[in-house]
Amino acid sequence: MNISEMQQAILQLKQEQDVCILAHSYVAREISEIADYTGDSYGLSVQASKVPQKTVLMCGVRFMAETVKILSPGKRVILVSPLAGCPMAEQMDKDMISQVKELYPDYTVMAYVNTTAELKTIADVCVTSSSAVQIAKALDNDKILFIPDCNLGAYVAEQVPEKTVKLLQGGCPVHAAVRPSAVKQAKQLHPDALVLVHPECVPEVTAQADYVGSTTGIMNFAKRSDAREFIIGTEISIAEHLQYECPDKFFYPLDKQLICPNMKSTTLVDVYRALRGEHGEEICLDAEVITQARRCIDKMIELGG
Ligand code: 13P
Ligand code: SF4
Repeated sequence: MNISEMQQAILQLKQEQDVCILAHSYVAREISEIADYTGDSYGLSVQASKVPQKTVLMCGVRFMAETVKILSPGKRVILVSPLAGCPMAEQMDKDMISQVKELYPDYTVMAYVNTTAELKTIADVCVTSSSAVQIAKALDNDKILFIPDCNLGAYVAEQVPEKTVKLLQGGCPVHAAVRPSAVKQAKQLHPDALVLVHPECVPEVTAQADYVGSTTGIMNFAKRSDAREFIIGTEISIAEHLQYECPDKFFYPLDKQLICPNMKSTTLVDVYRALRGEHGEEICLDAEVITQARRCIDKMIELGG
């Protein structure tokens, strides 16, 4: 079977079995082409609470599949690539944050969606990269304990200076590895290009950007902009998707090392095999974990919509 034959087979199986395929924007082009919805973490969360199908295949990482399960406990949620974790989501656990909370009892715990379902049970509000600033502004507390990403947290602190934001040392190993000198070099090579970066990058990188936003935010900015050249400071697939969608513009990855191996672990063959019941992992969470974790996600949708 070639790629297009496999895509056709997937579309047919998906229809016969009434399955919805959700894909994060970092997955390969051939997967996003057969997905019902592709987007950033916020878009996937909102979509997850609306889809009519009883089975959802998640092409992304584990915390995204867990978020779908929390929002739709009655659905069968399959993580297509069981190996796809997010290292940031595993950096802090419930015990550790419970202890930190005792040190800051009057702070609202704002958890990036890139956390485990278990950790979400003790968070007050969940955020994504596209909703964090808006939610921090809307929150009825001036004191925020932001976990786990200190770079996204620092970006929120800068954008919402009226609030006190405490940070812990966590973050995305892929985005945090981009050096500020990479921006300088890319600008020298492409002086007319706008620099669009993800807020998981270090503050010295985001400070040099023309636009800072989520994966969907970056894609929308580039598509709507009158500029013709863009340096893309997030996972390398976003520059590839944009190049397909806007063939008259030019997209340069900020750093060729910006590759998330976990996001790359889902293949089209995995999707096909998951639909045949030969691959993937069904996400199962305790009813208590679902109920408690849901509170912070519902609050995110309420404040971030
Ligand atoms: P987005 O919310 O921008 O999709 O980010 C998710 C992510 O894991 C970025 O590394
Ligand atoms: Fe996690 Fe970073 Fe990969 Fe996003 S890019 S899934 S934050 S490791």
